[in-house]
Parts: sequence; C-alpha cells; structure tokens
Amino acid sequence: MRLDKFICKSTEYNRSQARALIEAGEVVVNSLKIVDPAQQVHENNSIVLNGRDLVARPSRYIMLHKPADSICSNVDEGYPSIFNYIDVPAMDDLHIVGRLDTDTTGLVLVTDDGRWSFNIISPQQQCEKVYLVGLRNPIAADAAEKFSTGVLLQGEKTPTLPAKLEVINPTQVRLTITQGKYHQVKRMFAAIGNKVVKLHREKIGSLALNLDESAWRYLTAAEIASFNS
Ligand code: URA
Repeated sequence: MRLDKFICKSTEYNRSQARALIEAGEVVVNSLKIVDPAQQVHENNSIVLNGRDLVARPSRYIMLHKPADSICSNVDEGYPSIFNYIDVPAMDDLHIVGRLDTDTTGLVLVTDDGRWSFNIISPQQQCEKVYLVGLRNPIAADAAEKFSTGVLLQGEKTPTLPAKLEVINPTQVRLTITQGKYHQVKRMFAAIGNKVVKLHREKIGSLALNLDESAWRYLTAAEIASFNS
C-alpha cells in the first residue's frame, strides 16, 4: 500500500497530515528516509515516524442502515453525510462500497480495505444487490421477462444484465441486479414506463441488512470473508 495510507492506518493522522509528515522527512522505511507519499510499502516493513515504530491497525468492515435524506459522500450537499452515523477512529480513511441515492434507504458497506471493496463493486464480480422497490404504477405483466433478458437504459448502448423480479403486490416488487450503474434501479423501471417512489437495499451478496435505521455495526469475520471469492 502507499506510505501515506499506511501512516493513516497506523496513526490518527489523516491523509493530508500523513503526506505533510512524509514530505517533511519524518518517516523512515527500512532505515531509509522516504519523502514520497506514494512510495509502496508492505505491512512487514519497518516504518518509523519520529522515532515511533508504526503498526497498521486491522482494516474495518462496517454495515450501516442508511436512513432517507442522507448522502453517500463526505461533501455537505444540504443533507447529512452517512459518516455522521458512524463513530470510529480515523474516519477519513473510510470509503463507501456502492453508493445509494439521497432518498434510498438500506444497506451500505463502509471500509478502509480497498481490495475488499473492489471485490464487491468490480463489474466482473457481478455481486448481487437486492432492492425492495415501491412503484407509482402497477407493475406490468411482462416486466419480469423484460428484466430477465435486459432493458436498454436511457443513454446506454448495451442492455442491462439479466435481473430477477419478484412481485410482492402490484406496486411493490423485489429486484435483484448484478450491476451498479448510476441510478440503475430507477432507470430500469423508467425503461419499462414506470417510476420508483421508494427504494430500499436489503442485501449485498449473501449479506442481509439486520439493523434498525441509522444503526451500524462491524461485520463478522465470516461476513467479511463471504465477499472474498
Ligand atoms: N439504483 C438507484 O436507482 N438508486 C440507488 O440508490 C441504488 C440503486
């Protein structure tokens, strides 16, 4: 990993503070002063900051039940960031694994392990995401068939990958998709002439949301490992 990332993972410093310390010559890697924040290091290297031996803290893997009217970003856009609901050290080091829209509720994963999140969001993995969807109009009789073969989203050149639709009642359905295009679920229903009025993510892979709204918890070792295919 990058040296500045390692400093973040082993101290309370954020990325820009870590960079400043490295550039000021305060960091020694395997007995050599390193001033390049992008230098690749390994956790087994001897990394010393101002005479203090650093040890990287274990990565964090977090599940959050995102409430409506919160944003999956650090930038204040008029709604609270989902990071306001999580209380752990070194928040700056965390990132969101697959964002939800401001009005969407449900399962959000947060981590500081980039390889793990790549496994989940990489298109090649085709990780399943399950959404409970409220619709403005009754679901069309041929919707499941259309989604199972793929629909063309506005502005796209290729149809969506096969998706599973379960009808709960005429205006409530459960949709399972393996892609993560921008506003994918809303655009899929728009493509068949309907409109999403409520959207909630229930599941990512085999991991189901089991928290009250706005609550968070660390994932178990088995839950973390379930994404390492
Ligand atoms: N698809 C959407 O349209 N919105 C979300 O928040 C998630 C998936």
